[in-house]
Amino acid sequence: MEIRLRNLKRNYGSLHAVDDVSLDIPSNTVYGIIGRSGAGKSTLVRLVSMLEKPDVGEVYYDDKRVDNLSKKELIEERRKIGMIFQNFNLFSSRSAEDNIAYPMEICHMDKEYIRKRTAELLSLVGLEGRGKAAISTLSGGQKQRVAIARALAVNPSILFCDEATSALDPQTTRAILALIKEIQKKMNLTVVMITHQMEVVRDACDRVAVLDAGHIVEEGTVSDIFSSPKSAVTKDFLSSLTTVHDSVVRWSKEGGHYTLRFRGTKTDEPIISTVSRETGAIFNIRAAGVQNVDGEELGIMITDIGPDAGTAERAVALLRENGVTVEEEA
Ligand SMILES: Nc1ncnc2c1ncn2[C@@H]1O[C@H](COP(=O)(O)OP(=O)(O)OP(=O)(O)O)[C@@H](O)[C@H]1O
Ligand SMILES: [Mg+2]
Repeated sequence: MEIRLRNLKRNYGSLHAVDDVSLDIPSNTVYGIIGRSGAGKSTLVRLVSMLEKPDVGEVYYDDKRVDNLSKKELIEERRKIGMIFQNFNLFSSRSAEDNIAYPMEICHMDKEYIRKRTAELLSLVGLEGRGKAAISTLSGGQKQRVAIARALAVNPSILFCDEATSALDPQTTRAILALIKEIQKKMNLTVVMITHQMEVVRDACDRVAVLDAGHIVEEGTVSDIFSSPKSAVTKDFLSSLTTVHDSVVRWSKEGGHYTLRFRGTKTDEPIISTVSRETGAIFNIRAAGVQNVDGEELGIMITDIGPDAGTAERAVALLRENGVTVEEEA
């Protein structure tokens, strides 16, 4: 199901938590929304998932407007939505299978159907045979698997994930993201992934919107955003990624005036030596690495360029001519 947002606004007093947001979230994708704490991500999700009404603007699921529905229609439309959260929101007194069965019970589904469907969902999320387990005995990753199964119980078309992996360690995060991607394909879901971590965008999303102070500052495919970020906020998110990610090796904390981003085939070409030879520039590389983004190799290099400003300028111009994105530290 496609989701379209038109000029959404939500104010709390004088605070514009969501400020004129328009987005097209295509069906059958994992769509990331990234932003710092307080950017308005959760507020936006509450508007899109019909938990809260916008002050201004419209929300459409396919061609149906859903932000102004009557209570009865709202209940009907909300069946199309599954949600998972950072803190899992499970019933700790119920077993895994009873948690998964819960949404089907409130829809008064047939007992035998519920039993079958619960077993099916447990195996879908990799918890076959663990249905009787008490929630308190499960690990964080296993709890999130139960929460995913519960969210999918009534066959939604949209899955909202609000910081779904923020409480998990990196390895478990990767496993849960892989599961969400797999389920997205299997069930033709539209997944909306809210996060403050660029790793999550890189590892799970097809497209991403960057939210800052209630505004969308940038939107595009994940490989476009990673290879040529435009807004300062996006660059900031990416720089936190390059210093922590293990595939980027930093030799020195000092220096590194220029950040170079190479895309696709460019990573194979001896572009640095060509530029060096043609301009006489000297590259003092401080950090470099390759990340895999959506099946595409993206190279990144943090470097100083010498021996003088004029040469550096010519080198940067030539790099840009060759399709390398160059950012200069302010
Ligand atoms: N019910 C509310 N009443 C008043 N202010 C609110 C309410 N909900 C959110 N806000 C404010 O709106 C702004 C956006 O909050 P929101 O929870 O959407 O941010 P977020 O991007 O989800 O942040 P985080 O990453 O910390 O979860 C914040 O300044 C917050 O304090
Ligand atoms: Mg939030």
